[in-house]
Amino acid sequence: MTRIYKNILILTGAGISAESGLATFRSSNGLWNNHKVEDVATIEGFERNPALVHDFYNELKVEVQKAEPNPAHFALTKLQQEYPAEINIVTQNVDTLHEKAGNKNVYHIHGQINQAVCLNCGHVLETWGDVDTETICPQCEVSGMMKPNIVFFGENLLCMDKVEVFLRKCDLFISIGTSGVVYPAAGFVQTAKYYGADTIEFTLDMTANNYLFDKHVLGKAGETLPKYVDELITSLKKNPAE
Ligand code: APR
Repeated sequence: MTRIYKNILILTGAGISAESGLATFRSSNGLWNNHKVEDVATIEGFERNPALVHDFYNELKVEVQKAEPNPAHFALTKLQQEYPAEINIVTQNVDTLHEKAGNKNVYHIHGQINQAVCLNCGHVLETWGDVDTETICPQCEVSGMMKPNIVFFGENLLCMDKVEVFLRKCDLFISIGTSGVVYPAAGFVQTAKYYGADTIEFTLDMTANNYLFDKHVLGKAGETLPKYVDELITSLKKNPAE
């Protein structure tokens, strides 16, 4: 595809952070193979045992904080710096590796591991430290009402007002490292395609919604994405902008 794009929407999943050492969810030793989703990723699980859920995310936070971005994240920084288009990154990941790599316009639709939200006043607390059932909200000073700012199954996604605009406007939709099984994110490609975007996915294994993509690049994103970004940038020189 050597078309010159004006508006690129990138959707990322756990696969883009795999080469930074962070576990994905559904691989053989994935997060959901070692923990019960219903215990740590649902609002019912949180109401049943908030201490267990806080412990799970406090432990995950330590892992995530130590992780460094990999060449896939840095390729997106290069694309945003060298390709003259509006480029937005919508991520299902709760890590902050996109930001650590210098990516701009990053939208976390499933929340962020270094944030907690007060169920009493809605204040979002940014911290890499532990949050638990005793944590006092710095805004309303009520204790015991802080929840990890992670979107649990059944909760509404964040930033969806912006995502809807991006999906209608983009002329290139790039999916990186997501299995395409969790909606509504897995349906984004269909919306982008409906509004005329070219669609391409970067993954290690065939995904559940692969039939919706014009192009599939199988392999490690840390290797395949830098190559693709260079192709996009080179195509600019061959087809100077109208
Ligand atoms: N490079 C590219 N793709 C990779 C790599 C890699 N190095 N490693 C794994 N992948 C791909 C896998 O082939 C798979 O398609 O990344 C995808 C990971 O899929 P999941 O583990 O299902 O993760 P994700 O799609 O992000 O899950 C979506 O589900 O449990 C919820 O909230 C959670 O945000 C998560 C959502």
